[in-house]
Amino acid sequence: MEFSVTVLPGDGIGPEVVAEGVKVLKAIGERFDHHFKLCYGFIGAAAFDQEGTALPPRTLEMCKTGDAILLGAVGEPKYEDPKVNVRPESGYGLIRLRKVLELFANLRPVKLFSALVNSTNLKPEVVEGVDLILVRELTGGLYFSEPKQIRQTSEGKEAIDTLIYSEKEIKRIVKVGFELSRSRRKKMTSVDKFQILRSSDLWREVAGNLAVEYPDVQLEHMHVDTCAMRLIQRPIEFDVIVTENLFGDILSDVASTLAGSMGMMPSASLPGIPQDGIRLFGLYEPIHGSSPALAKLDVANPIATILSVAMMLRYSFGLTREATVVENSIDEVLKEGYRTDDIMSGGKTKVGTSRMGDLIAGKISKSPLRG
Ligand code: IPM
Ligand code: MN
Repeated sequence: MEFSVTVLPGDGIGPEVVAEGVKVLKAIGERFDHHFKLCYGFIGAAAFDQEGTALPPRTLEMCKTGDAILLGAVGEPKYEDPKVNVRPESGYGLIRLRKVLELFANLRPVKLFSALVNSTNLKPEVVEGVDLILVRELTGGLYFSEPKQIRQTSEGKEAIDTLIYSEKEIKRIVKVGFELSRSRRKKMTSVDKFQILRSSDLWREVAGNLAVEYPDVQLEHMHVDTCAMRLIQRPIEFDVIVTENLFGDILSDVASTLAGSMGMMPSASLPGIPQDGIRLFGLYEPIHGSSPALAKLDVANPIATILSVAMMLRYSFGLTREATVVENSIDEVLKEGYRTDDIMSGGKTKVGTSRMGDLIAGKISKSPLRG
């Protein structure tokens, strides 16, 4: 089979981790006889420096014509200085890309590999067996609603962000949560700030109404503050978590603690409900940022990106077996004791970004063709 992937390395450690994702994709192609056509484009500060926009029209065009996008990270410290007056648009083109492509469903699985059970900041008995998925609404809420501005008043400046969610937007994302729950442990937590935010009141109402269509799934509602605490206290109790854009952004960083590191957290952003046998367009990226301080040092953990490649194989190409091979290969390499710096602990073998990619690709080339 032939698939075309738009590759957007971006800034900081983005290019390094993406190179390892591509290495793994090529290993899968060779082992299972698929052809992945790769088209490279610019995004983020790298694009802004060259073309004056963080998301050049050419990049957007490439994204629209391909079957999937693999993205590294965006962000560059020189533009974080508030005194800089010419700077890339917010989110360095990334949030516009998500919006333009209508990728409203952001899936962030949090799975602790058993080899890392002693490598998180939490007690092993708390995190052992963690396997949950965060479903974050990605094209609405405070990130996008208008008005959104800083304005002058007679008493100085004031800033406004707006939080709007329509019934339609809530329904389609909650539906993604319910459908995913059906293929998992059939428990869904809908997270909101009920009775404080009007958008949350509507969210709870819509989720509650939709639950009638999913009698086999157990729905619980939870306030976002409680959810943040429970994720750390009793993470094992979560299966699917569905929530709005900003809550999802924050909760996914909280949840990364459970996976051992941000470097272990992949994501998929989809325009619909993932279902067996249906190939969806998608944007795949690690949830971590560009970590400029670590760039070009060959120390970043490429596993989040490699796991994102596995998600691409599964959701955009329908290659379930191949996706499992990638995940199993990571599992084996970790069990053999190889670690990047972020997940390093005593007695293990420290390796760099590219060696970690080599080890995983090596396992793939020796993997059984059938499960
Ligand atoms: C994420 C990131 C992005 C977000 C930034 C880079 C715009 O933090 O994917 O979680 O806020 O969505
Ligand atoms: Mn984030």
